Amino acid sequence: MISFRTKKQFHQRTRRGGSHKLHLFIILLLHTTTTALRLPEFREAPAYRNGNECNDTDSIHIAMTLDATYLRGSIAGVFSIIQHSTCPENTVFHFLTTHRLSTVLRRTITTTFPYLNFHLHHFNTKLVKNKISTSIRQSLDQPLNYARIYLSDLLPISVHRIIYFDSDIIVVDDVVHLWNIDLNSHVLGAPEYCHANFTNYFTPNFWSYNSIDSNNSNNSIDSNVSNDSFDSKVSIDSVDSIASNDDLTDLNEYLNFAGVFNNRRTKPCYFNTGVMVIDVTKWRRKRITKKLEKWMEIQKRYRIYELGSLPPFLLVFAGEVKAVEHRWNQHGLGGDNVRGLCRDLHPGPVSLLHWSGKGKPWLRLDSMRACPLDGLWAPYDLLKHESLISDRRK
Ligand SMILES: *[C@@H]1O[C@H](CO)[C@@H](O)[C@H](O)[C@H]1NC(C)=O
Ligand SMILES: *[C@@H]1O[C@H](CO)[C@@H](O)[C@H](O)[C@H]1NC(C)=O
Ligand SMILES: *[C@@H]1O[C@H](CO)[C@@H](O)[C@H](O)[C@H]1NC(C)=O
Ligand SMILES: *[C@@H]1O[C@H](CO)[C@@H](O)[C@H](O)[C@H]1NC(C)=O
Ligand SMILES: *[C@@H]1O[C@H](CO)[C@@H](O)[C@H](O)[C@H]1NC(C)=O
Ligand SMILES: *[C@@H]1O[C@H](CO)[C@@H](O)[C@H](O)[C@H]1NC(C)=O
Repeated sequence: MISFRTKKQFHQRTRRGGSHKLHLFIILLLHTTTTALRLPEFREAPAYRNGNECNDTDSIHIAMTLDATYLRGSIAGVFSIIQHSTCPENTVFHFLTTHRLSTVLRRTITTTFPYLNFHLHHFNTKLVKNKISTSIRQSLDQPLNYARIYLSDLLPISVHRIIYFDSDIIVVDDVVHLWNIDLNSHVLGAPEYCHANFTNYFTPNFWSYNSIDSNNSNNSIDSNVSNDSFDSKVSIDSVDSIASNDDLTDLNEYLNFAGVFNNRRTKPCYFNTGVMVIDVTKWRRKRITKKLEKWMEIQKRYRIYELGSLPPFLLVFAGEVKAVEHRWNQHGLGGDNVRGLCRDLHPGPVSLLHWSGKGKPWLRLDSMRACPLDGLWAPYDLLKHESLISDRRK
């Protein structure tokens, strides 16, 4: 009997069978995408209004990354900034995020901060995926960590200055004081830490390709950030030739990586890239993004450092940084979740707390193993806790 089935019936059957499969597939797809995109929920922050003394022309532009992992930290950071601002309505936030998460993150920001002046900028992680070398601390090598390299491309041309903040910071001062620092002719301002042993941020490889004459700045890969016309033959061209020349072993004796630090304005020192004030116009003019990318390409071939996104910044800027007061980056808070160590504050006044250590305060608070300083983070936490939600339902 089966063989008597008409052609039409047969087609209907297969089509139905096919659409059934397709239906299942869509359900599966929806299921996986919605679970991947389920973000925590946050309480609505109170509205903060400008004081009478505020001029609505004085915008302060702040950039931060937004992703699922650090969302709770970013939201606490934003909350702390507007809460301590005399003119909170003048702050404009520029959130750097991936295309995939932008819709759901926009919703989260809008419902948490209905009054916030913000923009979302899509960072194409493909830009860096093939430039990132495998690193010891994987968490430092998340592509969004590198978005700060592309700020000048992501921000509208009308933005001339930007403050970049990591997602594990709390600001306890009026951010306008940081915004108004005088950069003089510098591209970048940040607190510097000259007691840190700078040698250790790079591998012996980096320091040993140091032949010919270490005093000859003609050999260096990048010479002078402070000099507006320095995009001349020496710096960029020599990097281009390195990046394009396959016969690199012959070039080794010719390379002087460490020579990059010759002729810097001041002693090259470590600085933390989690808090930076950037002159975006100068950055564009000096093609800083290209220089950072070049160092990432060199890293892939030569392993000149072990960390992720920080060393390229040191290579381009150390010794050319406008020093900002240390109060604006009390970094290294947090410490170590595994061994339960807690770092203390550095001496001196505090305008910004930075949990740049491995352990994040929200994870320690959740696991009831908070460090004393985590108590300073907690008041800015806007997460709707599951327990509170279920309490309310009872
Ligand atoms: C607003 O502008 C006036 C006049 O330019 C200036 O005196 C005042 O300090 C400004 N207020 C703030 C908060 O910057
Ligand atoms: C910095 O570290 C390097 C390598 O670990 C070491 O050789 C050097 O003596 C250190 N310098 C200072 C000033 O401690
Ligand atoms: C570099 O210059 C310094 C002082 O100008 C000198 O002491 C040193 O020997 C020079 N190094 C080389 C490798 O020529
Ligand atoms: C650098 O190169 C220029 C031109 O190629 C040359 O005149 C100059 O002497 C070189 N500088 C040093 C320190 O060797
Ligand atoms: C770098 O800039 C400083 C200050 O602008 C200048 O004195 C120095 O000659 C420059 N060095 C090079 C190699 O252009
Ligand atoms: C920048 O460097 C060029 C040559 O490298 C030099 O002629 C010029 O004077 C420098 N400018 C400043 C401001 O240092």
